[in-house]
Amino acid sequence: MLARADEGVWPALRAEKVSKERLRRYMLRGVGPQQGKVRAGGEVRSLLRFGRVNLVADDYPVPHDLDLILCRNVLIYFDQATKKKVVTKLLQHVGKGGYLFLGHSESLNTTVPGLHCVAPTVYQK
Ligand SMILES: C[S@@+](CC[C@H](N)C(=O)[O-])C[C@H]1O[C@@H](n2cnc3c(N)ncnc32)[C@H](O)[C@@H]1O
Repeated sequence: MLARADEGVWPALRAEKVSKERLRRYMLRGVGPQQGKVRAGGEVRSLLRFGRVNLVADDYPVPHDLDLILCRNVLIYFDQATKKKVVTKLLQHVGKGGYLFLGHSESLNTTVPGLHCVAPTVYQK
């Protein structure tokens, strides 16, 4: 999955709702055997790193100034104490004013110092 994500290739149908201007600016349209697919252009791919992290580890190699972390449907595996520990740790990787999005059916059910809820399952540092 990480290798596939790194390729940055999608069926063109998945990009239907992306504006023409954004597609032109940031995406490459497949030709020949890649017909019907789109690929993120070099400018976008250069901003992205894919890697495996264990969220319950004491540390992981992720920058500390992220604008946004999407952590969907992962906290469901953890008990309340572990959830809080994982979110507190994630928070260390979000820059001031940055956001943490959880899955639609997930909620923290606890307060985490430095994090406030701005919408259902959306938190801001
Ligand atoms: C239900 S899937 C959700 C996948 C994706 N986030 C989504 O919403 O489609 C749960 C994911 O949590 C990951 N996961 C479980 N425990 C983890 C841990 N300790 N650290 C990192 N990922 C974990 C699993 O490998 C799995 O990919």
